[in-house]
Amino acid sequence: MTALTISTSSAATLRADAVVIGVAKGDKGPVVTPGAEAVDKAFDGKLAAVLETLGASGGEGEVTKLHAPSGLKAPVVLAVGLGEAPAKGDGFGAETLRRAAGSAARALAGSKKGAFALPVGSAEDAAAVAEGALLGAYAFNAYRTSGGANSKAGGKKKDDKKAPLAEVTLLGGKPRDKAFKAAVERATALAAEVHRARDLINTPSNDLTPKSFAAATQAAAKEFGLKAEVMDEKALTKGGYGGLMGVGQGSANPPRLVRLAWTHPKAKKTVALVGKGITYDSGGISLKPAGHNETMKCDMSGAAAVFATVVAAARLGLQVNVTGWLALAENMPSGTATRPGDVLSMYGGKTVEVLNTDAEGRLVLADAITRACEEKPDTIVDVATLTGAMVLALGNRTFGIMANDEAYRTAIHEIADEVGEQSWPMPMPAELRKGMDSPVADIANMGERMGGGLVAGLFLKEFVADGITWAHLDIAGPAFHEGAPYGYTPKGGTGSSVRTLVRLIERTAAGDLA
Ligand code: BES
Ligand code: MN
Ligand code: ZN
Repeated sequence: MTALTISTSSAATLRADAVVIGVAKGDKGPVVTPGAEAVDKAFDGKLAAVLETLGASGGEGEVTKLHAPSGLKAPVVLAVGLGEAPAKGDGFGAETLRRAAGSAARALAGSKKGAFALPVGSAEDAAAVAEGALLGAYAFNAYRTSGGANSKAGGKKKDDKKAPLAEVTLLGGKPRDKAFKAAVERATALAAEVHRARDLINTPSNDLTPKSFAAATQAAAKEFGLKAEVMDEKALTKGGYGGLMGVGQGSANPPRLVRLAWTHPKAKKTVALVGKGITYDSGGISLKPAGHNETMKCDMSGAAAVFATVVAAARLGLQVNVTGWLALAENMPSGTATRPGDVLSMYGGKTVEVLNTDAEGRLVLADAITRACEEKPDTIVDVATLTGAMVLALGNRTFGIMANDEAYRTAIHEIADEVGEQSWPMPMPAELRKGMDSPVADIANMGERMGGGLVAGLFLKEFVADGITWAHLDIAGPAFHEGAPYGYTPKGGTGSSVRTLVRLIERTAAGDLA
């Protein structure tokens, strides 16, 4: 990953390939933001005027590259737009800084070292710049051959094919300040774990199978002092995990259930995180048509987020127990696949009539949720690319939050806001439950089409043990980004929900959450 250093040097004297400064929208044209004083001085105080001449407005995400004047060590100045200048005394806000730093880092792909002289008034601001820059400095080049990330041809490639910016130097903070140091260290660990999730999501399904995914958790467990337990198809059959086995039985790559645990000797709370890990969702016998299956390697994004969050808990040494449950299976059609109309006997004994094999996520999650509840965690949060209906409702950048506890749902929504992830609380209308009544089994895996995302949530709720606070995040929209990159969000796997989950367990550790 990109290296992060902090420096007390002046932006004028630091050796770097580019100095990043901020430009905001002022009343009378672009204004240069605090942190850029030394750079402005090298332009004889005319930097804002120069930027205006070049057509810069200071709009969010706008990037303007300038040849540096002789007074600067770096050959390039990169001005990144921060949007409307805040009222006097106010800062720009963490998400604005994060996105601006991300846009700048992306624009510097292929370069070695970028010095970030953005407006940082607090440790929190510095962390936002660090996080944004590191998250923006991402590329998934594992499958490129000729002219790969580090080839000489790198300079002529499109930004997303170049090697990411190799080194970020943060200017303007207080390197000796404890809060500053801690905030920047946290940002580094967090970015590394978001990248872990992104890499897994981007890895094609021919390489990322339930088995190889489980092996990756075992390797990380060794590295970070976690406990990983993997149940293979034999153990799952023996244990009665009908959901996982039913979904996975059509595939040549059999399912796995991973329990990945971080424990702290002084922990007062235990959070269980359950992730949907469908390494490929073809739909099964209820096959998805072309146009709906090209990105379905992303259907394990929930499990990737859970995996990354448990490792983050270890990296940060959080005083809370976090148990990750990864429900891994591949949903394929074949002569051994579950048929529409089949009845599965789930872990714990409930029976489910499978009306649509493409509603597979809820089946693997139901097994994992039931199993997770046996350990009586204080709270349980599942994360899943569960329904297209949630994407229709909330769009591509916002995940839905459902819960059996309104305060918990609200808390998660606020936490997501805080870390810069868009989310929205969704209801669980009780009348939608009867649509899942089955003539042969306890419940069917499909109900009314209207409110499909809520129906899926209601299905999962049936498997949560009484008395356990539970929330469900449907990240089907934001998990995989198909549009042009923006801010710190790349094309492909985004790592959606990792930052929310990490903050959630931090808050649980601090004792200010259920
Ligand atoms: N993995 C899909 C949901 C999905 C859709 C994720 C788009 C990411 C982007 C899920 O397994 C699925 O197929 N859901 C069905 C459920 C339906 C058959 C009840 C859906 O949403 O259409
Ligand atoms: Mn599906
Ligand atoms: Zn799916």
